[in-house]
This record gives sequence, C-alpha cells and structure tokens, in this order.
Amino acid sequence: MPKLKKAPVFSYAPAPHLVFDGDTANTARYDDVYREHQPGAVSGITPLGANTYRIEGSGTLVLHITVWSERLIRFRATLGAPGRDFSYALDPAARPGLVKTTVLENKTAFTLQTAALEVSISKADGTVSITDRATGTVLHEHSSGLYLRTTLLEGIQQVRLQFRTSAEEGFYGMGDKAWDTDLQGTEWSNYNEDAFAFTRDRKTNYRSIPFFYGLREGYGYGIFLDNTYRSHFDFNSHKNQVATVWADGGELNYYFLAGPALDDVAAAYHQLTGLPELPPLWALGFHQCRWSYYPESRVRELADTFRAKRIPCDAIYLDIDYMDGYRCFTWNHDYFPDPKGMIHDLREQGFHTVVMIDPGIRVDENYSVYAAGMAEDAFCKRGSGELMVGPVWPPECVWPDYTKASVRSWWGQLYRELYCEQGVSGFWNDMNEPAMFKVNRLTFPDDVRHDYDGAPTDHRKAHNIYGMQMTRASYEGLKTLQPAKRPFLLGRANFSGGQRHAALWTGDNVASWEHLQIANRQCIRLAISGYSMVGTDIGGFVDDPSPELLTRWLQLAVFHPLMRIHSMGNNADGAAEVEAEEVKKAEATNRQDQEPWVHGKEHTRNNRKAIELRYELLPYLYTSFRQHLVTGKPVLRNLFFHDQRDPLCRTYSDQFLFGEDLLVCPVLKKGVKKMEVYLPRGEWYDFWEGTPHPGQQILKIKVKASRIPIFVRAGASLPTAEVVQSTSELSKATTLHLSVFAATTGSSKFYWDAGEGYGHAAGQYTERTYQLTRLGKKTTLAQSIRGDFNASFQTIQVRFLGLEEIPKKIRVDGHKVSSGVSRSKHELVVQVPFDFEEIVLG
Ligand code: NOJ
Repeated sequence: MPKLKKAPVFSYAPAPHLVFDGDTANTARYDDVYREHQPGAVSGITPLGANTYRIEGSGTLVLHITVWSERLIRFRATLGAPGRDFSYALDPAARPGLVKTTVLENKTAFTLQTAALEVSISKADGTVSITDRATGTVLHEHSSGLYLRTTLLEGIQQVRLQFRTSAEEGFYGMGDKAWDTDLQGTEWSNYNEDAFAFTRDRKTNYRSIPFFYGLREGYGYGIFLDNTYRSHFDFNSHKNQVATVWADGGELNYYFLAGPALDDVAAAYHQLTGLPELPPLWALGFHQCRWSYYPESRVRELADTFRAKRIPCDAIYLDIDYMDGYRCFTWNHDYFPDPKGMIHDLREQGFHTVVMIDPGIRVDENYSVYAAGMAEDAFCKRGSGELMVGPVWPPECVWPDYTKASVRSWWGQLYRELYCEQGVSGFWNDMNEPAMFKVNRLTFPDDVRHDYDGAPTDHRKAHNIYGMQMTRASYEGLKTLQPAKRPFLLGRANFSGGQRHAALWTGDNVASWEHLQIANRQCIRLAISGYSMVGTDIGGFVDDPSPELLTRWLQLAVFHPLMRIHSMGNNADGAAEVEAEEVKKAEATNRQDQEPWVHGKEHTRNNRKAIELRYELLPYLYTSFRQHLVTGKPVLRNLFFHDQRDPLCRTYSDQFLFGEDLLVCPVLKKGVKKMEVYLPRGEWYDFWEGTPHPGQQILKIKVKASRIPIFVRAGASLPTAEVVQSTSELSKATTLHLSVFAATTGSSKFYWDAGEGYGHAAGQYTERTYQLTRLGKKTTLAQSIRGDFNASFQTIQVRFLGLEEIPKKIRVDGHKVSSGVSRSKHELVVQVPFDFEEIVLG
C-alpha cells in the first residue's frame, strides 16, 4: 500500500481542496470555497465611549479594543460591525473600569497606553504587540494578523489568533487536560465530552476552559478566549515559535490579562468570570459515593458502618438507581419506601444526602416532568423542528434547552420536593455534555437548536455551555427554593465561569497510579482555571484500587477541596436498563466495594487517619476558601505561583500549595519509602515532625505508609480542630488549635462562621489575623478580630514550634501564665481564651 503523506498544512490552515473565490468567470466547482478576513492596513483609532476603541482598518475584519483595566485588555474582532455583546462566561457583575488611556501615534503604529501597558497596533497590517511599560518586556506579539475565515457552505468557519512564543515559555491552565502541567509543545481542543476512562493525552475532556497562563522570562500573563464553539490551542507544537488559538465559529473575542504575578492573573480571570460562593462547611467534609447505593437498608448499613468504625463522613450520595426507571426527580419506592424518613435519620447521624439529577428526561407521557416539559416547550429540537430524542439511561430521552430563561426557571422549581420537603441537602448534575449513548460522537448532532437567551443558534455554539447552563438552572432554582441555604451542587460538564454555580469532579477516571498523578494535575489545573471547588473519584471510578493506591489517593485528596470516594461498582460503561439487571445479579456475589474499610484493618487505620486529618484541618481549609473569595487566588496553586523565577518550581510540578501556608508533596508511586521533595523560597517546617528546613533546596525524606509529606510556611499560624465524626459536631467544638511555626515575622488568618447560610454577609463571621514577630528572645503573637459571630470555641490551644529555647516567661494579655506545657526544647503549648489579644514569650 502506498504510504499516505502527512498533509503539509497545520490543523488550523484551510484544507487543501478549498480555494479562494475571486473569479466568478471560473466555472470550476469545489467541495467548498472560502474567504479570508483580516484587519488590513490601519489608518486610525476611533474612541467609542469611555474604554473602547475601533481600529480603522482596510480589511473586512473589524477590530475593537477595550481597556478593562490598566492590565486587562479585550480584543474583539468581528465580521463587519459587532452584534450583540453577550457572554455566558463573564460574571454578570463584571464591567470595565475607568482607565486613563492615552492614544499615541508614530510612523509605524498607533499605541494605547495605560499606566502599566503599551498596546501597539501596526499600521501595516493591524498586528498587535503588548509591552509591559515598567520592564519593557514584550508580553504578547501577533505573528500574523487576527484572522477569520468564512466558507460558502459553513459561514464563519474559523477565527484565529497567532502569537510569537519560544520553547522556554511555560503554558498552564486550560481546565481538565490530563497532560503534564506545562502544555508547551502540545495541541488541545475544547469540546465537552463524556470522556469515560480518559487517557492523559485525550484532546477533549468533560469541560471547556479556553483560558491559559503564559510564563515568559518570569513574567506571567493570561489569555481567555471567550468563544463557546469548539476551540483549539496549539502551544508551539510545530516548534515554529508560534502559538495558535482558534475556534470553529463565532467572534474572535479574547482578553489579555497581564501579570506579572500569576496570582494577579488568576485574580483578574476571577474578576471576569466570577467566583463561587463559600461552600457550606459540610461540603468540605468527607463524602462517600458509589454507583449506586441501594436499597435503603444498604444506605443505612453504610451510614452505621462509618459511625461504628469511627471514620468521619459528612455526605452519602445516591446515584441513578434511586430513581424510578431513571426518571429524574422521582424515587424507586421499592428501594426507598420512605425517602424523607431515611434522609431525616441520616441527618440525625450527621450525614447529608446528595442525589443525582441528569438532563436526559425520559420520554413517557405518564411522567410528570416529561409532560410538563412538553407543555412548557422546554425540550431541544433539531433544525427541522422535530424533538431531539436519543438514548441515555432510558432508551429515549429529551433534553431541556437550558439556554432559555423560562426553561431554566421551570427546571429550577423541579427540585422543590427533593430539596424542600424530603430533606436532600445537595445535588449532582451528571451527563450534561450532553452525553448521548450509542453514537460515536457521544453527543447531539450540530443542527440541534438552542435559544441562547434570545439569539437562537445551533448546537455548535451552544454545546460547550450546555452543561454550564444546566448547573446554572439548578443552582438558581436551589437558591430561590431555599434562599437561606448555600446550595451544594456538583456538576460534570462546564465552561469558563461555571464556577459561580457548581463544584466539579473530574469524571470517570481509572484506579491506577498513573491516574492518581493525573487526578492531582487535573485538580491543580482546574483550580488555577477558576474551579477551586474540585475533586476526583478517589480510588478511581473504573477498576478496583489496590489497598496502597486507595490510601495514597485518600491522603492526597485531603488537599483536594472536594473529597469524595466514588466508583462504578459492577456497572459497565453506558449501562442502561437491560444491563442494570445484570448489575443487580453481580452485586449479590461481588460488590466491588470502595469504602475506606474494604481492605482490612491495617489499611482501614491509615485511611481513617487520612480522613481524620481532613477534619482536623477543616478550620484551615475553610479559611483558605474564604481567602480565595477575598483575593481571587486559587485554593490550589502550582509551586511556580509562589516563585515564578525559580526553574525548580516548574520541575516539581506534582507538588502544590493549599492556601497560603501548606505545601503538599504527594506520593504518586507504589511502594515509595523515600522521596525527594523541593522546598521553594522561604523557610518550611515538616508538618509531622515540626522541624524547620530552609527553602530552595531539594530535600530527601523518608515516607511512611500512614502519612503524606506536608510542609508548613515558617511564620504561619495554622488553625485546626479536634477530630469529629461530622461537621455537625464541629460547630459545637469548644477548643480551637493553633500551631505557630516560628519565624522572624509572619501572618495568617482564621475565618469561621455558621458554616451555612448567609449570616456572614451581615457580619456574622469571625475573622482573626495572627501576627507573629520575633525580636531577640521575645516572640509575640497578636490576634486581631473582625466580625460579630459568636463561635462555639472558648479556648485556643496554641502550640509554638521551632522556638530557639523554652521561654522563661509567658504573658497572655499582660498577665503572667505559669502553666505553659512544654513538650520539648523547641515546642510550647499554652491554653488561652478564644478572644486573646496577645501572647508574649520571652
Ligand atoms: C457517569 C458519571 O461520571 C458517574 O460518576 C456516575 O456514577 C455514572 N454516570 C452513573 O450515574
């Protein structure tokens, strides 16, 4: 067979059979015919309103530049005059600020100058370059003009941006790509897919986050392509020192977010796309899930076992089998004769119940949701006007068009019975890519129509935001149904900005060591891509983990904000009604359980320890979330967010920071007894041993089966609690623990509130700042307090670590304390009132 030659074009270039249509006298015919559009030669800049400038180009691609802030610039290139300016991704509250901008002109370019940046537009061809004024660093430089392609048959077929890069530049973010941390030299796409048992090189995954960070010469920036079509990101994969970003339709609409700090880029991205709410405290507890726990007796047995084995847990999930024949918002009453009674009893034991809701609604005239949806005209239709009908769990489903405001309101109210009457605490929206069985493309055909909030369009434009609009509809519904409660919603498919409505789990992973590493990378990557409330199926969804793998996964997941075990049990991929019967039979003989105790006593002990650590750290985890909302810094951050100029921070890419003070070094391989960790700039204490280590060194450490290596920033005051079996007990705890890791100076926060509801918005919280200073032999810890919340804590057990010597005198608020309990030469424990002002040692 003759060898096929690789096409000599890059994937963003037009296919060779397309030709430019200039000559109507030519009677030849082609598969399709394209036209190219660029800004052309630029003759001027016209200000429109306060922040926006129209670039007067000779080409057919019209470019507008909006200065959002001194460091945030929007580029919007449209075919002809721009139409409706609409974005699902942007936070409805996001607005450009009033920025002093000067327009300059020289021989070759027009320049928009803010206090921080210079945005130059070449007169010759409209290419743009952005320079940091303080350092003269060129941050962004088009290698060719912005580009849009139309074809006769497809209309707008591609919008494209190309900029110069180098092999040294780091590329990060992009949501849930399972690849290595740095995406340099690779190419990816965004198209939400039911990515069952995904591999690390899968190009498209469950969600689309068309946002990445660049790190060039220590300078961080970000680019967010606000375009919902299938999009593609090529980070110099052709080694031609060019990065290409393109989408299969729509506008070329992107934001350039200048750092230099990556933390500031993250904050600017959150300013654009919004932040979630503070989760209810219980959502940060440990969650247990499987496909599926049923009937009621088994759920009760599960709950009892957690309590009997003294393994803390806050939530139990019911997967699709709780429903009556996969009809959302119904119960299988054979399995669950009294849902309300069961949920009530679980609550009494400290468990919250979370149930699944899918978007696929069973076609069945006698099913109230189907009938009401039909009456509401809620379901998606094909281009021809027929209903879009297809198989998911039931053989025939229809899907609500969540891009229509009235459908979202209708959908939101469907939760009433489960949420308000039966006591379900949280919901889990699955299969919302939307996933469809039996066809290779895994989802809808392109011609399906969507309202798109008043600007009807096809599925090509709506696909990537379908899941996002489903979780939005669910979230908004839950808020109106119980306005005094913080909704807990877990979603699968999503888009940039969806963090405003739902937490996210990474989807159907595999019980393997490779997937443990992927899980960690995905969580960090998602956190820096806007989704700090993220977690994975602990232990792996597909296959069974070895005892060691489950333990290591649990230990790592202590530091993944959503901590949930989930597995597929005996189900097969795409298991629909017929297979479900097989599953029931298999369950009778081998349940393939994945609870923390499945592997016997010794492993149970280690798993319990991991979950207990999670509960001990809850005051710190909750504070970290609160800080995320205040600063816009992701809860999980790669080491290079801490030190952008240290190359080793890029090398040790599996390590990460949780909040301000903890450095986590996951154990990702089997049988590890020793490992190397990298301590970045600063000074760090071994969390377990309390020993200090200078930063910027590779440290060789011994690893225990029962512990994950963790380090604490010197100068930190780490708030922790005593182990409880659920967060319901935590809100009654009277002693807070505070570990103070000695340094010359340092400051930390502790935030606490009712753990539920919105009292905090009216001042019902307590936020404490701990200021540590050491002067000669005197160490002072000062506490300042904001907010009016009356917490249950009465005392704080303060543990000072790393003291140079045991102090002779201890004073608390000016009074001498004689009873400091010293543990060793370098450690001292002192009990103080919760509202103390100052502890002085020396
Ligand atoms: C697919 C989800 O990803 C998985 O978590 C769930 O268990 C199954 N659907 C069944 O609902």
